[in-house]
Amino acid sequence: MQHLMSPLDLSVEELDRLLTLANDIESHPQKYAHACEGKKLATCFYEPSTRTRLSFEAAMLNLGGSVLGFSTADSSSAAKGESVSDTIRVISCYADICAMRHPKEGAPLVASQKSTIPVINAGDGGHQHPTQTLTDLLTIRSLKGRLDNLTIGLCGDLKFGRTVHSLIHALIRYPNIRFMLISPEELRVPSYIREDVLRKNQVPFQEVERLEEAMGQLDILYMTRVQRERFFNEDDYVRMKDFYILNKKKMALAKEDMIVMHPLPRVNEISVDVDDDPRAAYFKQAQYGVYVRMALILTLMEVSVC
Ligand code: NCD
Repeated sequence: MQHLMSPLDLSVEELDRLLTLANDIESHPQKYAHACEGKKLATCFYEPSTRTRLSFEAAMLNLGGSVLGFSTADSSSAAKGESVSDTIRVISCYADICAMRHPKEGAPLVASQKSTIPVINAGDGGHQHPTQTLTDLLTIRSLKGRLDNLTIGLCGDLKFGRTVHSLIHALIRYPNIRFMLISPEELRVPSYIREDVLRKNQVPFQEVERLEEAMGQLDILYMTRVQRERFFNEDDYVRMKDFYILNKKKMALAKEDMIVMHPLPRVNEISVDVDDDPRAAYFKQAQYGVYVRMALILTLMEVSVC
């Protein structure tokens, strides 16, 4: 049985097949409408979510399956002190596959070790968010036509932003990828990403503080929210929260075919006046999240549709 804890749990070939399946689902949704009839997805969310949980639920419903779960820790037995290991043993009796989000790094991994059904990491603390990465890769491949030969600007909270960590891990496997890491000094990528992932694999990257400095070189600008919930004190958050605001004026510095991505939710880091720019891809990206999660559910449950 396969779980998904990190984007690296899938080889480049498996990933390629999964993205191709997601594109086929987008083009022929009817073909897949009954693929998971009689199957159940459990969504166990110990942390807030809109897109991830609802896109997982939409994905399973689109496949003809059903969903159950909880959306806050305090509405589950976690509030009574139950461990994730015990919870997943029980969920394994009720559902066929589980998506779990947890504020503690590694909690979905612990769950997967006790589970008899596939477990998907739907975000664990500031660590990884592999299904957002699948969404991001599908968006890039669909809108740019490739996953290689790209200069990607990652901007904002690169320290706590788990979507950024997972995306870097996934993209370095493709040829000729270059990163511009755009962040304030205090929110730079963790050193294990800089040293063990980027330097060790000889991936070219540059760390800059000013968005304007990077803008003209980028094929993709990936904006992120400052992760308020991971800060130790509110004053630091308040100081950092509006460090970057992408607006029309800054968009004028970008290439004609650059795309702007954001895992969402957005706070202030992208001004609403950018939404109508044809290069703004973040709402389309949220739509791709449903197709890719449908493809993932089919893959992990080993359901094939002819
Ligand atoms: C992201 C997350 O939860 O890490 N959201 C999402 O799943 N689309 C990004 C964020 O919360 O900033």
